[in-house]
Amino acid sequence: MQNYPQYTNKQKYLHWFSACLVFIVIALPLYKLYFVNWLGSMANLFSLHKSLGIIILLLTIWRIIIIRKNGVPDVIPREHKLQRILAKSVQGFIYLLLFLLPLSGYLMSSKALNFLGIISIPAVSLPNNGYVIFHLIHNYGSYLLIMFLFLHIIGALFHYFWVKDKVLQSML
Ligand code: HEM
Ligand code: HEM
Repeated sequence: MQNYPQYTNKQKYLHWFSACLVFIVIALPLYKLYFVNWLGSMANLFSLHKSLGIIILLLTIWRIIIIRKNGVPDVIPREHKLQRILAKSVQGFIYLLLFLLPLSGYLMSSKALNFLGIISIPAVSLPNNGYVIFHLIHNYGSYLLIMFLFLHIIGALFHYFWVKDKVLQSML
């Protein structure tokens, strides 16, 4: 039995599964010329982007429910106040964007959302400016998410290689 605080197995699986999906969802539109050959058409590419985005939203809601029920382990010692504030703020912004991006993605579209070819979610009718605003939120929000993920990963590596504590291991 390890003597450092750890996330539960469920939290670990959800973290790494969501992380893989987030990397794919971001890569699809940014490297569309590469993926489009593979997926057949731009329509297929965005259909996959949207469906995976909705799955990420559902997983994020599930993660929040687990945190509210079981809490999170205290992995960074209390005396390292600045590290705790930075880590928690970055995680908070990541959670916020994991809600904002799928919702803005859905609201910026005037077409029904076909979820994995199984369910069709009707589009919400908005005045023209509404679509434009949600499009801007989606575009700028996705770059903010990339920036926060970069900080998050740098933070995890900083703990592993520099501080040499067990923060990364708490999620492995
Ligand atoms: C190579 C990539 C990644 C590494 C090494 C990594 C590492 C970690 C570690 C060590 C923790 C625990 C830190 C702590 O509690 O202070 C953590 C928590 C967290 N990570 Fe990551 N992470 C990665 C990718 C991602 C991605 C892509 C996302 C976005 C989905 C993400 C979202 C989160 C969130 C929201 C938490 C807070 C704990 C939770 O609620 O599960 N991480 N990560
Ligand atoms: C966590 C979920 C999501 C992430 C991280 C994400 C991220 C991104 C990124 C990085 C781009 C490229 C931005 C650019 O080229 O400037 C993009 C574009 C796009 N996303 Fe998402 N997205 C998510 C969910 C969704 C959902 C759920 C939908 C629709 C239901 C959606 C619809 C779109 C569309 C239509 C575009 C193309 C916009 C354009 O051509 O300007 N996204 N998304």
